[in-house]
Amino acid sequence: MTKVVVPAAGMGTRFLPATKALPKEMLPVVDKPTIQYVIEEAVSAGLHDVLMITGRNKNALENHFDRAWELETTLLGKGDVAKLKDVTQSTGLAQIHFLRQGDPLGLGHAVSKARAHVGNEAFALLLGDIITEPLGALLRQMLDVHATHGGTVIALAEVKPDDVAAYGIADVEPTEQSGRVRIRSMVEKPAPHEAPSQLAIIGRYVLPPQIFDLLDETKPGKGNEIQLTDALNELAEDESIAGPVWGVIIDGEWYDTGDKLAYLQAVVTIAASRDDLGAEFRAWLRAFIDQK
Ligand code: G1P
Repeated sequence: MTKVVVPAAGMGTRFLPATKALPKEMLPVVDKPTIQYVIEEAVSAGLHDVLMITGRNKNALENHFDRAWELETTLLGKGDVAKLKDVTQSTGLAQIHFLRQGDPLGLGHAVSKARAHVGNEAFALLLGDIITEPLGALLRQMLDVHATHGGTVIALAEVKPDDVAAYGIADVEPTEQSGRVRIRSMVEKPAPHEAPSQLAIIGRYVLPPQIFDLLDETKPGKGNEIQLTDALNELAEDESIAGPVWGVIIDGEWYDTGDKLAYLQAVVTIAASRDDLGAEFRAWLRAFIDQK
């Protein structure tokens, strides 16, 4: 498997007004935009061919992964090697292709746009506004499950009962391996009393190419959008289509940076663990909390 699809076409309404002119995937977590963490995650799991599905007002995403000659020439002229490295870091990371979603008909529709690029192979799908830590560990584990057991692999995390309505939620059964479950069915953003569990889908998937036919047949669901979760549910309910659907429960952290609280948690956690800033930031944070 070599290909990664990264949907980044959402409007970011949970983060207005910051996302009025700036794609939500460009919000900085310390000094890097979220989308760069996502691409670094793919690369650290050995996947270098990325198709990003974007939309209107998303030009900043293309610019971020392109060369910036004026900036590079200026920094080179000043001999500022450290900053030059920061600027060029995103450029050579991966082979990134861009495609626009066109009609904003939902995540399932955005993913269906990847069919021509992906072809008849399994591929990884990484939502562009989610950061996982340690970077790449979860995706590598998911690729291992796929290589060993085949089928579809979906990352899950336990969320609070009140939060189930914000995510796709899975009904699961255990396997002989801890951290790996079998998904029996999934439901997109259920009301808390209808949720089959508190295990949420967290935006990391290894998908078989059969998903494209299923997406083509998927009718608008929750929010009148074509929901990826609905197509995945078809896979889970009929294993003759593409094998079992596995859930891998994350053994680390994940941050949905489109959510304000999770975004702040990502910034604080990542800043606190940075070699360059961490010690000073942690000391300030301790003093700040003591004053409160
Ligand atoms: C999407 C998926 C949902 C998943 C979530 C993870 O929802 O439809 O199943 O749990 O991403 O963030 P969205 O956040 O785009 O509304």
